[in-house]
Amino acid sequence: MSNQITYFQDYYTPQQRRLIWATTRSVLETDHFKHKRHGRKSKSHWNYFKRILNLVVWGSKITGLYQKGYANVGQIQINEFDVFSDNLPANFIGFRILQLSDLHIDATPELVHHILHAIGQTSFDWAVLTGDYRQESSGNYQHILESMKEVCSQLQKEFPPVAILGNHDTWLMTQYEKHLGVKFLINETMQLSRDNQSIFISGSDDPFSFYTDATLETFTNRPGFKIALVHTSELADIAAQNNYNLYLCGHTHGGQICLPGGKAIISHQAEGEGYIKGFWKVDQMTGYTSSGCGVSGVPLRFNCPGEITVFTLRKSIYQANERLVKLFR
Ligand SMILES: [Fe+2]
Repeated sequence: MSNQITYFQDYYTPQQRRLIWATTRSVLETDHFKHKRHGRKSKSHWNYFKRILNLVVWGSKITGLYQKGYANVGQIQINEFDVFSDNLPANFIGFRILQLSDLHIDATPELVHHILHAIGQTSFDWAVLTGDYRQESSGNYQHILESMKEVCSQLQKEFPPVAILGNHDTWLMTQYEKHLGVKFLINETMQLSRDNQSIFISGSDDPFSFYTDATLETFTNRPGFKIALVHTSELADIAAQNNYNLYLCGHTHGGQICLPGGKAIISHQAEGEGYIKGFWKVDQMTGYTSSGCGVSGVPLRFNCPGEITVFTLRKSIYQANERLVKLFR
């Protein structure tokens, strides 16, 4: 079986498109506003939020919960799911996609080892990284490159790993594609091919803080099995309108600090509780919000384990067959 990756081109070459995007993104990264689909939003609430986080750390230390919450960060779960679709090409039946999200790999000194250990427990054909690689959302980023390279070296499978950017990331990281061993997809679509059959993958820039109209160009209306990679669930309606089958995102950390039972106290998203973690649906499209494998703000997790997720693609007819087999067993 021959494997092939194709990146689509249009009026601009990929290099020209990347240059236009990088220029725009570099300006937005210096702005005091978040640029969202429905307009600009102040970042000033973040300073208040940081004060709350300091109180959380202080409170957890005096109640003796800090060590428990810190230890929870290392308990990364491996969650495996089947995703069924009618239009999955036969050569991709059983194809296993690993999703890593919100690594924030410098959040604790041990985190990279926890992530590497979790990856080592899984089997997969291709890996996607759905944004947020460093702890802070500005400042230095070069200190994470070697840890990220180490992670990406474990993700080299049938196809090289693909990454998108989150709201904690800088465009400067995309200059290190070759060094890291990862392909950044930024408002672009590519295809993975096995022999003459393909699936299509679209990756957008982060719409939580860095939305531009170019983000909409991410999504293609071409027919076929299509996966959207977006840092947040904010573009799910557009992807569903373009008949995407699967939408993978993160950003929320599942709440990170949750009440017993898993209810998030704060999620940093406005799309509704149904989008905070796990599966959701928009029309025919299946979406999944990863709880992330790292942490940000505080190095603690409560009632919300981190995860790496493996999706196995299945043809819908097999789902029906499996039900029949169970019925006659
Ligand atoms: Fe994050």
